[in-house]
Formats: sequence, C-alpha cells, structure tokens
Amino acid sequence: MLTACSPPAIDSGTADPDAIARGKAAAYRLGCGACHAMPGIDWPQGRVGPPLAGFGDRALIAGELPNRPAPLARFVRDAPALIPGTTMPAIAMSERDARDIAAWLSSLHDE
Ligand code: HEC
Repeated sequence: MLTACSPPAIDSGTADPDAIARGKAAAYRLGCGACHAMPGIDWPQGRVGPPLAGFGDRALIAGELPNRPAPLARFVRDAPALIPGTTMPAIAMSERDARDIAAWLSSLHDE
C-alpha cells in the first residue's frame, strides 16, 4: 500500500453518522467554540485557534501530525502530549468523546 504521500483519504461516506452527530454535540458541549469557529455551531465562534471548516480535507493537524482519525482523537483530547509547545490546550473528555469529535472533524469538507 502506497498511501504515505496521498491526500487524506478520509471517506465520510463510510464514517458512522451517529458518531459524527455525537462528535458535533460534544464539541459544542465542551466549549471548543470558545477558541474555534466551527461549521454548524453559530455561537460562540472564537478566534484564538484556526477555523475548523473543511478540516477533513486538510493533510496535517496543526501542521505537524497526519490528519487521520486516531491521531486526531488523541490531539483533540491532549494536544500538548503530541505537540509540545502547542497553544491548543488539553481538554478533559472521555475517549469516546475524542473519537466522536475526530469523526465529526473528519467529516467536514470544503464546499
Ligand atoms: C483555549 C483555546 C482552545 C480551545 C478551548 C480549543 N482549541 Fe483547538 N486549537 C487552539 C489553538 C491555539 C490551536 C492551534 C495550535 C497549533 O497550531 O499548534 C488549535 C488547534 C486545533 C486543531 C488543529 C487545527 C489545524 O488547523 O490544524 C484542531 C482540530 C482543534 N484545535 C480542535 C479543537 C477541539 C475539537 C476543541 C474542543 C474539544 C478545541 N480545539 C478547543 C485553541 C483551542
């Protein structure tokens, strides 16, 4: 399998729609909007971190990690453990919340 250089092949068509819906709800509940503008979440739309629209089409997480569901789930829960010095804080959440949020972010595509 030669996949290393290909663009992220996250196929939202195969992602679990329930996980995606739970992930969006968790992102809202956990207050990610305090720092990020996120599609479908009208308020708040913080500007501390980058807007997350179209995140499923990005190759890298924070310019450092491959944008795949497993590293993304770890990143949203404990970014400083993966990227020392990042300004994205660790956020207390369950592993399931982290997986669901990763599924939701991976389902966000550019218009
Ligand atoms: C206190 C502000 C803050 C909060 C709260 C926050 N983030 Fe972040 N986030 C940031 C910053 C700042 C960055 C940029 C980090 C970097 O580039 O190293 C970031 C980066 C990210 C990235 C990578 C973006 C990119 O363009 O690569 C994702 C994905 C992300 N955050 C998701 C979340 C999620 C999901 C939550 C809620 C669970 C959340 N963030 C909560 C500040 C925050």
